[in-house]
Amino acid sequence: MMKVLVYGSGGRDHCLADKYGDSQHVDKVYFAPGNPGVSYTPKGQRGLIERIRIKDFKEIADFCIENKIDLVDVGSENPLEEGLIDMLNERGIRTIGPRKEYVRLESDRAFTDDLLRKIGVPKPEYRVFDDPEKAKEYVRNIGYQVVVKANGLAAGKGAIVCDDVSDAIAAIESIMVKKVFGESGNRVVIEERKYGTEISFFAYLDGMHVMPLKMFAQDYKPAFDPDDRELIEQFGGNLNTGGTGCYCPHKEVSPWLVNRIIKEIVNPTVNSIYNDLGWAYKGIIYFGLNLDPYDRLDVFEINVRHGDPEWPVIARKLSTDLFEIGMAVWDESLDRIKQVWNKQHYVDVIAMEGRSKASKGWNKGYPGRYGKGHKILGLDKIEKGVAIYFAGVDEDPEKGLVTYGGRALHVIVGDSTLKGAREKAYRNVELLAFEDHNNNGTNCLRFRKTIGL
Ligand code: GLY
Repeated sequence: MMKVLVYGSGGRDHCLADKYGDSQHVDKVYFAPGNPGVSYTPKGQRGLIERIRIKDFKEIADFCIENKIDLVDVGSENPLEEGLIDMLNERGIRTIGPRKEYVRLESDRAFTDDLLRKIGVPKPEYRVFDDPEKAKEYVRNIGYQVVVKANGLAAGKGAIVCDDVSDAIAAIESIMVKKVFGESGNRVVIEERKYGTEISFFAYLDGMHVMPLKMFAQDYKPAFDPDDRELIEQFGGNLNTGGTGCYCPHKEVSPWLVNRIIKEIVNPTVNSIYNDLGWAYKGIIYFGLNLDPYDRLDVFEINVRHGDPEWPVIARKLSTDLFEIGMAVWDESLDRIKQVWNKQHYVDVIAMEGRSKASKGWNKGYPGRYGKGHKILGLDKIEKGVAIYFAGVDEDPEKGLVTYGGRALHVIVGDSTLKGAREKAYRNVELLAFEDHNNNGTNCLRFRKTIGL
């Protein structure tokens, strides 16, 4: 039997650990640095998934060698950019995930946009700016709506969608001058705003072959539902988040569209990665796409990791053994993997930190300033068959599991219909509460109500 280590701590990473735990080949999954939520899950309680509180890369490598870990999967972009894969490979440890150099596909949008333009992969019009004044002059003159994007890693949040010129100027000011996304804001990509349906599409690469996943999901990035007018007003717009929920299969999934995505986008991009860049990329690639009302596809972004919250719904729908995929990525044998998808519909609703009382005044809640340390109530009431993946959570010696991040939990439900999955997901999210200890124990959990609609 095999041992896997998943490096990460969020909901997507918990889901990876859970999915490896389902493998017929795996009898132990270590989750590092992990989060305390796993010990509240059945696999955590049986010891199949075990959290190890190691963050340091060298200590991770030592742990892998001492414990004879067969495969390491790295969930998020920051450790990839910091070179975790490179250092594990130098120590002879098998991994899934791109080497540090290849993370540029996500961290340098201008580089990737230029590459896509060069090879003729469709993407919206864009220009790159290092100077905020020149960027402002550009948006005053172009006459169409734009999206302003920080040119660096921003956990899926670094794009501001603008309705008009004043929004675009405010976005340039906050990204480039106020540096809301840190140093990623030294350069921006200003891209034509597109309308249509967002698609999150994934493909595994083994350095030789590509295995596009023939199933895709839809993420809900805006923080609020369209009729949450009061909140949208308070926050100064419907801000983009890392994702507030997701469903799969996407309503547009069809063999026709999957084939088009593979032909128009995935194959030329992967061919260019392997042959023009000469990169033996091993891991997953995430294509953020738009399908417009005239069936035109455009690439918004490429990421070098699984999507969060897309991966949890896709992983639940995937019946192929994840360990077999992982080993095929390492062994360059993805061409031998058969994709099997179950027939269920999945909905993931994220339980977020809403408005809560701070020691002075109020926390607006995610994606603004949010409170922490709120006791998580109701986990014991969750119905059988509902998966909870833990993200921004911590453990308090007195209160037990408490919130720690703005997106605290994923509530994931499968059903034979999307309607059924939605109903069950919402019934279960409503069983949960975050206890606002500064405000007489009122519930400060917030969730979007339109996931899957
Ligand atoms: N859900 C968006 C992302 O993972 O970047």
